Formats: sequence, C-alpha cells, structure tokens
Amino acid sequence: MKLGVIGVGNMGGAIIRGCITGGFDPADITVCGHHPDQLKEMADKLGISVSASAESLTAASDIILIAVKPANVAEVLYDIEPAFTEKKILVSIAAGRTIESLAASCGTARRIVRAMPNTPALVGSGMTALSRSEYVTDDDYRAVESIFSCIGLVQEVPEHLMDAVTGLSGSGPAYVYMFIEALADGGVLNGLPRKQAVELAAQTVLGSARMVLETGGHPGELKDAVCSPGGTTIEAVRELEACGFRSAVIEAVTAACEKSREL
Ligand SMILES: NC(=O)c1ccc[n+]([C@@H]2O[C@H](COP(=O)([O-])OP(=O)(O)OC[C@H]3O[C@@H](n4cnc5c(N)ncnc54)[C@H](OP(=O)(O)O)[C@@H]3O)[C@@H](O)[C@H]2O)c1
Repeated sequence: MKLGVIGVGNMGGAIIRGCITGGFDPADITVCGHHPDQLKEMADKLGISVSASAESLTAASDIILIAVKPANVAEVLYDIEPAFTEKKILVSIAAGRTIESLAASCGTARRIVRAMPNTPALVGSGMTALSRSEYVTDDDYRAVESIFSCIGLVQEVPEHLMDAVTGLSGSGPAYVYMFIEALADGGVLNGLPRKQAVELAAQTVLGSARMVLETGGHPGELKDAVCSPGGTTIEAVRELEACGFRSAVIEAVTAACEKSREL
C-alpha cells in the first residue's frame, strides 16, 4: 500500500514517524506540504518521498491521509479531486469534518475514513477512533487501521459518536496534563521539589492508566483497592467529591463534545 500524507505538522509528522517505526517501508510513503525545503530535509532523513502537488501525490498513492487544519481541508479536496479515483482511500483526521462533507467535495461513492487521533501519538501512545463510509471494504479498513496502530490503540466507532470521541480522547490529553500539573502543585505545596513532583505525578497517571488497560479492572474497583479503611486516600477521595471533581470532568467532556458538533 502506498501512503500519501498531505500536511506534515504535529499529527502528520507523528503518523509518518510512527508508521516507519512500526515497520512501514519508507519508500512507500510520500508527503506534500507548504514548506518544500523543510519537507525535503525530513524526507532525506526518513527515506520517504516528497510530491510536488497534492494531485500528483494522490495519483501515486493508495491511501491519501489529509492532516491539515480543518480550515484547509476544502482546498486540499479541491486539489486532489481530479486524481481521486474510486479504488483509492481517503483518510481525514480533521476535527469536525464529516464523511458526508468530505464526500460532497471529492465524490460520492468514495472510500472515506474519518479518524480522530490524539497528541500522545507523538510518543507512540495515541488513541485513534475510526469511522468509515459504506464503500470502505474490510480490507481497506484493515489497511487504514494498520497505519494508526503504529501510533497507539485504535477503535472503530459509528460516525455519530465522533463528537463524543473528540470530547474524550481527542481533547482529553489537555485535561490529563492539567491533572498532572495539579497533582504536582499539591506535592509542591507540601514540600516536594517541582521536578520530582512532576515525575511522581506523571508516572502515577501513566501507571494507573496501564492498570486499567492491562488488568481490565473497573476504575472504581481499582480506586477502592487504594482506599484503606480510615486511611489517607479515602480522605482525599472525600475531598475530590466535595469539590465536584467527577462532575467537572464529565462537564468538560460534554463541553468539548458540544463544541465539536458546532464545527
Ligand atoms: N493536534 C491535535 O491534538 C489533534 C487531534 C486530533 C485531530 N487533529 C487534527 O489534525 C489536523 C492537523 O492538526 P495538527 O495539529 O497536526 O496541525 P499543524 O501542526 O498545523 O499541521 C498542519 C500542516 O498542514 C500544512 N498545510 C496547510 N494547508 C495545506 C495544504 N493545502 N497542503 C498541504 N499542507 C498544508 C500546514 O502548513 P502551514 O503551517 O504552512 O500552514 C502544517 O504543516 C487538524 O485537522 C486537526 O483537527 C489534531
């Protein structure tokens, strides 16, 4: 499968690097973007190719990944339309751009996958949700899934749940960074040096997340296991509940989800 990536910023770059680390042959990857000199330097380093235009990239690729900002998607679709034939697969990671709106610009009865990755993709620990148009075969889907598997975990969701995914895992890293910062602040308030506090906080979040994913345990049960009767943790849990922690997080996800619906 030949992969063409249009737009090589944070996410496009992370996906390309992840694919190469995950075993993709760099010779099968072509990119195009606004800064040919920078792209050429990156391409030489990674062993990938640079295409002169989005149209020529599309002609040479089986999977065309659009990784530009949502506001730039329309111009890209216009550019690729002449070369985007029905066997090719279009993948868009643009927030808020529906499969229907993508198809309206590049042709109905087209193979289109909408993806919502997140920034931990930059360190190979992303979470990506995928939705597909009815024209995407299982083989097509598996080919796209194999790309995003290189940068973390992948789930397929019906497209109407993409806004909820955006509010949870798409925007979620920001909430988690705030939580890590707040945990560290709590440590600093109680005498820990900042650097140590940040490491203690980040590793606590990482380890707890791995416990959920690797043991399959319910987060509530795992929380209960930390709370000794009459101990320190249950005191902290009482305080978090009193301050509306759980509700604040639920409302944050809902606010991001509603914003995504408006895009
Ligand atoms: N960042 C996230 O957390 C996140 C999460 C999920 C999904 N996404 C989605 O991922 C997409 C990319 O986000 P990002 O954070 O990677 O943005 P980014 O770092 O700004 O990268 C976008 C790249 O596309 C280039 N570009 C713009 N118009 C182009 C065109 N017509 N042809 C080729 N290249 C073009 C930009 O160049 P210039 O800088 O010169 O314009 C830039 O290098 C967005 O649609 C976003 O919704 C992002």
